[in-house]
Amino acid sequence: MGSLAGRRIVLGVTGGVAAYKAVDVCRRLVDAGAHVAPVMTKGAQRFVGRATFDALASESVRTSLFDEDHPSPHTLLGQAADLVVVCPATARLLSDYRTGRSADLLTATLLATRAPVLVAPAMHTEMWEQPSVAENVAVLADRGVTIVGPVDGRLAGGDSGMGRLAEPADIVAAAHEVLAATAGPDGGDLAGTRVLVTAGGTREPICPVRFLGNRSSGRQGHALAAEAASRGAVVDCVTTQPGTAPVGPGIRVTAVDTAAEMAEAVVGLSAEADVVLMAAAVADFRPVEVADRKIKKEGGIPEIRLEPTVDILATLGRSRRPDQVLVGFAAETDDLRQNAAAKLRAKGVDLIVANDVSAPGVGFEHETNAVVVLDAAGGTVEVPLADKREVARAVVNAALARLRTNCSPNGDDT
Ligand code: CTP
Repeated sequence: MGSLAGRRIVLGVTGGVAAYKAVDVCRRLVDAGAHVAPVMTKGAQRFVGRATFDALASESVRTSLFDEDHPSPHTLLGQAADLVVVCPATARLLSDYRTGRSADLLTATLLATRAPVLVAPAMHTEMWEQPSVAENVAVLADRGVTIVGPVDGRLAGGDSGMGRLAEPADIVAAAHEVLAATAGPDGGDLAGTRVLVTAGGTREPICPVRFLGNRSSGRQGHALAAEAASRGAVVDCVTTQPGTAPVGPGIRVTAVDTAAEMAEAVVGLSAEADVVLMAAAVADFRPVEVADRKIKKEGGIPEIRLEPTVDILATLGRSRRPDQVLVGFAAETDDLRQNAAAKLRAKGVDLIVANDVSAPGVGFEHETNAVVVLDAAGGTVEVPLADKREVARAVVNAALARLRTNCSPNGDDT
């Protein structure tokens, strides 16, 4: 648990029955050498006495924005934190955090921090499965928040099902993992690295109302941007979905719409990039003419002539620096590996991340993905169905391994 030693962790405890397990999480974090600053909501104090955390944590419990000795306890806590852990996280906390609502000391601290955040939700199955709650969790995960659990098991009131807090040991292990990958005193494993990520599907206008588009939500690209930034990289995220792009230190978002706009932004930014992750679904064709007024159906069936767009990745592949790592993506429905291998060669890239978008839960519009990463040097990594952030972690790991190889004077892994 080396990465926990000496790190400052704000432990936010909200009002659910599982609050008693936060006591165990607190003890384990302190035992691993972390400095734990507990924050309890009003609800949490109905489940566990503050004296328990006072006794176990590294400092006294804080509960209010106003009754503390410091005039601004949320910024004090948020700015000093290396990590914020919310355990348990209730549906209300998830909603407030997602919408940026500053309702109490804990939510204000979440707004006042640039540290990574880990939330461990716990609630009844019906609540966990509500679309509103699921959406809040998905948005937070997209922004780079680490979600641990919940798991299936015994719930309060004799019920059982999905919604039980993850085991305290697993929450602490996840905190350890987040901190191990985050810029600490020695920097994260991507500190000093510039990463360019593209995300979302381009829109090629037909007229002021209609466009040619695709089903990409930008989630996988945004998860890549959040992952790279959390590991210390300076990230440029060129996206067609700026509203859901991750925000935080080290992330600069460039909003684009069309393939041509994306090409211009990417070509400009790529000169400085050590790693380019081309996750966007870029249109291959665009209408030759764009009508300046809405096309009305009285005019009959319109004939839309198309022309090719520039292949951004192939362009980068032709002009790349030898030390730069280029990663392409391939969304396929047939012959996944053969098509991916062909793109790997044709586009002159180091890695291709391929997914079969016809498989359940994979790719477009899903929270999850399953990919195979093909390396031009011959290796293959399979990432089975997992949360897009998890997939992002595996892709970034593969890109980092490649970067080390490309930058090694012998061109090998030594
Ligand atoms: N790509 C790009 N510019 C384009 C089209 C694609 O940079 N005009 C990139 C994508 O971002 C992705 C990779 O190329 O990283 C593969 O895209 P894909 O659409 O799967 O491949 P294509 O070469 O367009 O082949 P096809 O559509 O025929 O499968």
